[in-house]
Amino acid sequence: MDQANRLREIVKTEIHQHEKKAKLKPHPRSQGLTFPRVIAVTSGKGGVGKTNIVGNLAIAFTRLGKKVIVLDADLGLANIDILFRIHPRYHMGHVINGEKELSEVMADGPEGIRIIPAGSGFTDFTHLTEGQKLNILSEFESLDERVDIFLIDTGAGISSNVIYFNLAADECVIVATDEPTSITDAYAMIKVMATQYGMNYFKILINMVKNEMQAKMVYHTLSKSVDRFINDVVLEYVGFLPTDHLLKQALMNRSTVIEMYPSALSSTCFQNLADDLLKSPARLSAEGNIKFFLKRFIDYKTASGLAI
Ligand SMILES: Nc1ncnc2c1ncn2[C@@H]1O[C@H](COP(=O)(O)OP(=O)(O)OP(=O)(O)O)[C@@H](O)[C@H]1O
Ligand SMILES: [Mg+2]
Repeated sequence: MDQANRLREIVKTEIHQHEKKAKLKPHPRSQGLTFPRVIAVTSGKGGVGKTNIVGNLAIAFTRLGKKVIVLDADLGLANIDILFRIHPRYHMGHVINGEKELSEVMADGPEGIRIIPAGSGFTDFTHLTEGQKLNILSEFESLDERVDIFLIDTGAGISSNVIYFNLAADECVIVATDEPTSITDAYAMIKVMATQYGMNYFKILINMVKNEMQAKMVYHTLSKSVDRFINDVVLEYVGFLPTDHLLKQALMNRSTVIEMYPSALSSTCFQNLADDLLKSPARLSAEGNIKFFLKRFIDYKTASGLAI
């Protein structure tokens, strides 16, 4: 066989193997299916409104026809259970240890939202054994639900868990307020995520301000410091939420403001924010584990012919 023929044979074999692989693992997008968008809502400082934002955004996305799963990875006290009026008996810890299936742990929130409670299961999420990782993986693979948006309430601060969830998400929305400590803590979080973990794209959401002008001032303060001291990081301003006493009022009634006062200013802002986030394509910031196992879960479903 001359050299040209040998080359042709090699190319033919490679194409054949590529096609074989493709047949084994059909790509969801080729079948008109999409991956869920994994959005982490995080902050440097605590108490800036993440849990309220996740709760209200989940409902706003649902009202735009999206199927939402909320992963509550916030171990704080004022968690999503209160906002959604749920009393979960089990949590992710039971799934990790193989005691419960994911479907048994998931709670039903308002308007068809499904919630995966963190419980104590996330305290050592970064130190899972291989067996525990396999438990999670197989649970997500066998989950028989459509998911468009996977929203994660990460909790605050630069703990290993928070970093883990930010890395695992497609998009990381950092919440800050106009308080100087909130801005410096947001900066510190961006610095760690960028310099130690290579994340270079963040969405910035400003909460508890008077108006958009004040929100943009906070955003500019933050982005000026980032531009000056951290290389190659993009901060995208995604919007603001006003300080709204109706949000607090709703919380007292264990409700999101968007359910209780749909025409409140903050409700309108939440609905606009959800709309804007859906319009702006996800910019992938890092390859991560949740994305990985959700992809695996969808590949599995696609291969088995089930529509998502
Ligand atoms: N836009 C707003 N207007 C008025 N009050 C707000 C607003 N956003 C949040 N709050 C209030 O701020 C407090 C903290 O909110 P929340 O619990 O959502 O913050 P968090 O970032 O999740 O806190 P943690 O870091 O402890 O988990 C709550 O009392 C909430 O009602
Ligand atoms: Mg919280």
